Amino acid sequence: PHKKIKKICCIGAGYVGGPTCSVIAMKNPNVQVTIVDLNAQRIESWNSDELPIYEPGLDEVVKESRGRNLFFSTGVDQAIIEADLIFVSVNTPTKYTGIGAGYAADLGYVEAATRQIAWLATSDKIVVEKSTVPCRTAQSMRVILEANAKPGVRFDILSNPEFLAEGTAISDLIKPDRVLIGSLDTEEGRAAAASLADIYASWVPRGQIITMNVWSSELSKLAANAFLAQRISSINALSAICEATGADIDEVSYACGLDSRIGPKFLKASVGFGGSCFQKDILNLVYLSESLHLPEVAQYWRQVVDMNEYQKRRFTNRIISSLFNTLTGKKIAIFGFAFKKDTGDTRESPAITLVKYFRAEKALVSIYDPKVEESQIWMDLCEPGIVDDLPALQKQVSIAASAYQAAEKADAVVICTEWEEFKDTRLDYEQIYDGMKKPAFIFDGRLVLNEKRLKKIGFKVETIGRPG
Ligand code: NAD
Ligand code: UGA
Repeated sequence: PHKKIKKICCIGAGYVGGPTCSVIAMKNPNVQVTIVDLNAQRIESWNSDELPIYEPGLDEVVKESRGRNLFFSTGVDQAIIEADLIFVSVNTPTKYTGIGAGYAADLGYVEAATRQIAWLATSDKIVVEKSTVPCRTAQSMRVILEANAKPGVRFDILSNPEFLAEGTAISDLIKPDRVLIGSLDTEEGRAAAASLADIYASWVPRGQIITMNVWSSELSKLAANAFLAQRISSINALSAICEATGADIDEVSYACGLDSRIGPKFLKASVGFGGSCFQKDILNLVYLSESLHLPEVAQYWRQVVDMNEYQKRRFTNRIISSLFNTLTGKKIAIFGFAFKKDTGDTRESPAITLVKYFRAEKALVSIYDPKVEESQIWMDLCEPGIVDDLPALQKQVSIAASAYQAAEKADAVVICTEWEEFKDTRLDYEQIYDGMKKPAFIFDGRLVLNEKRLKKIGFKVETIGRPG
């Protein structure tokens, strides 16, 4: 018989912890769920009408349970003490100094949370690794927990990676393809996994809740992200061939996607993938492979990230050469700053790289995004450590309140995010054309525009994956 969970604590109220545990609370009204964070401002927003992250459907989910069985708090210690089950959902960024800098995951936050649990626990806990971590991290957590456990306190460690994508987090959580739980292959391990499985079984069919050993579970998360990113780099590599030959990447992707073994998803060519995880997790896999003395495996996966960098550079070069080989003093309107549509998140957004390239070419840049906060854009564009960066930046970069304003007197519009509102059925591109310098260029980095229609208005249109 396994334990029935009554109180859950989630450490980390971020993009994963917040939505995931809000859905758990909504679907398990008899379980008390407390999401904690050290960041008081973040917790304050979770308790307000303006949630700290934008995610379609999230407001409703939070409103349904908040104050009933869902709580957001900075009281980390108390929530840990009370819980039967604790999700560790803290950030695991790429290390930027020390051994493995630029590749390895910084496990400092995971370890700090683990030590805090070990230190505080006075009753048995199931500790669930929710953050994406390198293979075998659960083992390190176990050693830390057991070395610091109070007498008689037992810890079971599970791996339960999260597969939600931003922008569709709520629907991904409500209808997941699978829920993955990794545990030790012991009686206690399996019992802990069964306790967590019961929580998900409130809404996920049992057949979709799969259990396996911890290391497989940890590696499956890195592998799934690596596969997804690899598909994008593959289609982007083909987009370069299309531009040079006259093939059309959307047609190639459609033709390949009809093969049921390949499938149509994640084959949209783009200016490059962004987001907080793809690059980080692949580099993590590269580091893991190198640590295991598997340089060929490391090189194989590294190429997925290299191809992504190449795509952003290649698109920029195309823009420069179309604009008569100079951007000096020209105004470039950037449509979209988020790393994908339906999110305000800008982590590793390709738009950041493009704006940096344009600045280096002495262009004037005007940015419009429907969801990203202005302060976030400044933070993303400032080079860390350069004191006078902001005033210099603001001489070259401005933030617009609408797409029309961004494009006013611009030489070119560059579509960086596939927001629905940028489609030519939604924006009045005739009005945009009238306000621009001539010749008026549009560079579509997301294949959202109908090229023929825009050409008819008078635009010079250049689309990723199509010849100019
Ligand atoms: P995030 O930065 O948005 O949130 C992490 C939160 O943890 C922060 O608010 C931070 O203040 C808090 N935190 C750190 N240490 C703490 C401590 N000791 N006590 C209390 N709070 C602490 O990160 P995220 O995007 O939610 O990602 C979390 C993990 O989930 C990462 O490992 C990531 O790889 C993984 N993941 C992310 C996504 C995604 O879409 N963002 C999807 C799947 C998996
Ligand atoms: C991704 C995965 O899809 C999730 O399963 C995973 O849980 C998550 O990473 C994570 O571990 O953090 P996310 O980064 O939120 O989710 O968003 P995606 O939809 O995967 O998009 C990532 C990037 O790829 C975006 O910049 C997107 O525009 C780009 N993309 C996506 C393409 O360029 N082409 C495509 O066909 C699909």
